[in-house]
Amino acid sequence: MVERTYPWKLAWITGASGAICGEVARRLADAGVSVAATARLSEKLDQLAASNERITAYPADVLKSDELKATVAKIEATLGPIDLALLGAGMYVPFDIRNIDLDGFHRTMALNVDGVINAAAAVLPPMLARNSGHIAIMGSLFGYSGWPETGSYGASKAAVINLAESLELELHGTGVDLTLINPGFVDTPLNAAYDPKKKLFVMSPAVCAGRILKKLPRKPYEIAFPTKVELFLKTVRSMPRAISFPLIRWFTKTLQ
Ligand SMILES: NC(=O)c1ccc[n+]([C@@H]2O[C@H](COP(=O)([O-])OP(=O)(O)OC[C@H]3O[C@@H](n4cnc5c(N)ncnc54)[C@H](OP(=O)(O)O)[C@@H]3O)[C@@H](O)[C@H]2O)c1
Repeated sequence: MVERTYPWKLAWITGASGAICGEVARRLADAGVSVAATARLSEKLDQLAASNERITAYPADVLKSDELKATVAKIEATLGPIDLALLGAGMYVPFDIRNIDLDGFHRTMALNVDGVINAAAAVLPPMLARNSGHIAIMGSLFGYSGWPETGSYGASKAAVINLAESLELELHGTGVDLTLINPGFVDTPLNAAYDPKKKLFVMSPAVCAGRILKKLPRKPYEIAFPTKVELFLKTVRSMPRAISFPLIRWFTKTLQ
């Protein structure tokens, strides 16, 4: 692994026991950044904290806004100001128009959208008061365009992309930076139910974490990869629907 230095002293990570954010947490800690790791209480979260003395577990449920506010206050009282908040708790459920998993849809929207805004609402006030901080939100390339069988996940990530744009417009000049991270397929438990034939350009959590951490220190508005998929989806998004819909239908048929 390349030795890096990062512009943050303390990172708060939600979804830290997960595949991608767990890898980011370990890499940051290895490079000397203190990490406050949040997910619901689990053996995985404990194992992450045990893997490096710079990682401390702060179990919390991102669906509970008051719990998150208390968690942020506890972290800052104990470890100091959070200068990077990586909001990564997320989930995916399959979507079938003939038998829509409504419970799955509602849970996905709650975790992927409410979970992000709850965490942002907890960490933004202290960051704004200090006129400094960096918030990074895990979105997905699936948020750029509607796609067959991804109705729940895609809708939640499209909401996250729009939310990030609104936040970024208002954060300008406050000293708080925002980065939206939109990866493509990563081989993690999150998408285990997704047809492997349709997982194009899939990457490992290690590759994903490496790509995130290569760019995140520069605090760009957006980090999206793989580039080919990003450009394809952004192009499709900007096309007239009379062209983009047949194109997506044709393309997804070739994957069956
Ligand atoms: N995998 C992909 O292909 C891919 C691609 C693009 C973007 N992403 C995004 O990247 C992020 C991480 O994905 P991943 O694949 O690494 O997921 P993952 O391995 O399934 O991890 C999900 C994390 O979210 C946590 N979580 C779930 N419910 C929670 C709750 N109510 N409160 C607090 N934490 C909760 C989980 O811990 P507990 O369940 O123990 O609480 C776990 O730490 C997600 O936002 C995902 O949408 C993933």
